[in-house]
Amino acid sequence: MKFFQGGQFKNKDIRLDAKVVIITGANAGIGKEAAIECAKRGARVYMGCRDPARMEKARQEILDKSGSQNVFGLELDLASFESIRSFVKTFLSMERRLHVLINNAGVMACPKAYTKEGFEMHFGTNHLGHFLLTNLLLDVLKRSAPSRVVTVSSLGHKWGRINKDDINAEKDYREWDAYMQSKLCNILFSRHLAKRLRGTGVNTYALHPGAINTELTRHLNPCIRTMAKPIFWVFFKTPKSGAQTTLYCAMEPTIASHTGLYYSDCKLKEPEPHAQDDAMAEWLWNLSERLTGLSSH
Ligand SMILES: NC(=O)c1ccc[n+]([C@@H]2O[C@H](COP(=O)([O-])OP(=O)(O)OC[C@H]3O[C@@H](n4cnc5c(N)ncnc54)[C@H](OP(=O)(O)O)[C@@H]3O)[C@@H](O)[C@H]2O)c1
Repeated sequence: MKFFQGGQFKNKDIRLDAKVVIITGANAGIGKEAAIECAKRGARVYMGCRDPARMEKARQEILDKSGSQNVFGLELDLASFESIRSFVKTFLSMERRLHVLINNAGVMACPKAYTKEGFEMHFGTNHLGHFLLTNLLLDVLKRSAPSRVVTVSSLGHKWGRINKDDINAEKDYREWDAYMQSKLCNILFSRHLAKRLRGTGVNTYALHPGAINTELTRHLNPCIRTMAKPIFWVFFKTPKSGAQTTLYCAMEPTIASHTGLYYSDCKLKEPEPHAQDDAMAEWLWNLSERLTGLSSH
């Protein structure tokens, strides 16, 4: 329904010709819609997706809808450090520039599971996977400046807590707590990354896309999902509307000098105070560096 579609990215004139964009999880939902729009505007779009068949099906749809020939699919499982490293290696063998990295992929409220390296699935995929991916792409982002790192978080960060004593949910697993923690990690990551990148021309943006009718609810109880379908249809944004704040953060010129901030409905928004905790952001950064093997201290 039109009323619930939220802020729209109105700047139709911005072109992305000769720009290179990576979008994780571009085979579904928000990521697919963002890919269509970036391709329409002339970008070379790299989809990072874990399922080759789903990726190729979506790639064909993106090519059809955008009229572009420049959409490429590269396998990327964010729940595997080996896969992330291999994605980056292949990407760097194909491109010398990267102007926009969109950290979009995510899992929500899944049953207890672990990534290949043994990290709780939400923490490992939504946060650590994107942390490693971004860090491995920092050199090319710097070489391509001005460039942007856009990280899709959620309003759910409001209820998130960084469980310092059990960040990997080994003692106690609650799927919603794990999801909210990972979405809080997304904002703290974007905030601390901005600090580290000051003066490089690489800026960072975190965002809440809205409540959107996508496949993200796949792990909810099937009965609840069926009953909620009409509610989702009426009150939730379409995936296309859900992609608007991502697109705004990726290319809006009036926010080109912003960095480390948070957006919702194509507007700047103040995140919760605990998402502005710089000491926690630094603690999380140092831990993530250790866990991903980027630092040995
Ligand atoms: N929908 C909402 O209401 C809402 C609200 C707030 C925030 N968000 C955020 O928006 C982002 C996009 O979600 P969406 O709503 O578009 O959901 P979606 O339709 O389920 O799309 C999620 C995408 O992430 C991919 N993905 C999951 N695990 C992955 C992994 N290990 N490696 C690579 N890709 C993986 C999925 O791939 P497969 O297709 O292979 O599973 C899919 O392409 C998420 O970060 C989510 O937290 C969504």
